[in-house]
Amino acid sequence: MLKYSRIAGTGSYLPEKVLTNADLEKMVETNDEWIQERTGIRKRHIAAEGQTTVDLAYQAALRALDAAGTTAEEIDLIVFGTTTPDLVFPNCGALLQQKLGIRSACPAIGLEAACSGFIYSLSVADKFIRLGDAQCALVIGAETLSRIVDWTDRGTAILFGDGAGAAVLKPADEPGIISTHLHTDGNYKDLLFCSGGPSKGFSHDAAGRIDAFIRMTGNEVFKVAVKSLGSIVDETLAANGLDKSAIDWLVPHQANIRIIQATAKKLDMPMERVIVTVAEHGNTSAASVPLALDAGVRDGRIKRGDLILLEAFGGGLTWGSALVRF
Ligand code: UT7
Repeated sequence: MLKYSRIAGTGSYLPEKVLTNADLEKMVETNDEWIQERTGIRKRHIAAEGQTTVDLAYQAALRALDAAGTTAEEIDLIVFGTTTPDLVFPNCGALLQQKLGIRSACPAIGLEAACSGFIYSLSVADKFIRLGDAQCALVIGAETLSRIVDWTDRGTAILFGDGAGAAVLKPADEPGIISTHLHTDGNYKDLLFCSGGPSKGFSHDAAGRIDAFIRMTGNEVFKVAVKSLGSIVDETLAANGLDKSAIDWLVPHQANIRIIQATAKKLDMPMERVIVTVAEHGNTSAASVPLALDAGVRDGRIKRGDLILLEAFGGGLTWGSALVRF
């Protein structure tokens, strides 16, 4: 019999080091006023030297397991969304499985959907649980974006940060994850991409650095983001026969406060009902939605039984949403 999945617990982790807008003023031609006005970002966290995506995910996973009242031994599926893996392979899910001491040989899936990575991972894990193929899934969105930021490019260097978020999914008789909606349009591949990879190869820039950096046509991405997130909100509500007034909380991808405001407006939602962390975290890609979700849960705003709408948008271009009864 088909079941549902529910979020049993969430956790997140941010590395200690903080990079402020004032710090960035010393690195590129920019200023705090421009960054705050155009993006809403005040600071972002940066992983320490040697601290990897899996290290961040490990801390977030421990917190999520604790919140779910479960132990690592119970996990029978890991879905790990990231675009900054520790290694090309093994995938980060396998590395996290080993770090958590899980010896059950449960499947560990590495999933790359850029900033939509957590929503995509949540959707995959939800399906495993619905089909009865998993009983306790660990879903991760974690990144060390700072490792692929070109710190000489002011168009991107001001935006990104590092962090990790996690959720534990368990089966339920009533729907927790009510529906997920995923899209990719590869025709936009050139608007946001990483400039090097193992198959296509790596070139070197004028300074002799390996050229594997985030490249983005920001204002074009901005326009597609606002349009796509607007339409996925409609799609999610229509699929569930819901009016926008039914949503208690919007938990958006934290790329830019102006994109978040546009989506909130589409939902007729006051900003008090939107979980906003972009000022403190910047854009942490796949980690951004679970970081915001965990922030809202831990400070008591999001309560059990609330109806929440998660959404994300990123390289691919990819975008997605999840309607969740928390
Ligand atoms: O998470 C994945 C998805 N990513 C996104 O959703 C990001 C979407 N894009 C954005 O958030 C915005 O496009 C940015 C924040 C990246 C840029 O803001 P914008 O309002 O679209 O600015 P723009 O790129 O159109 O540039 C406007 C001006 C330009 O100067 P001119 O040509 O008008 O003289 C830029 O050179 O702002 C300049 N500029 C800067 N000035 C100070 C660009 N970056 C900076 C900067 N500091 N860091």
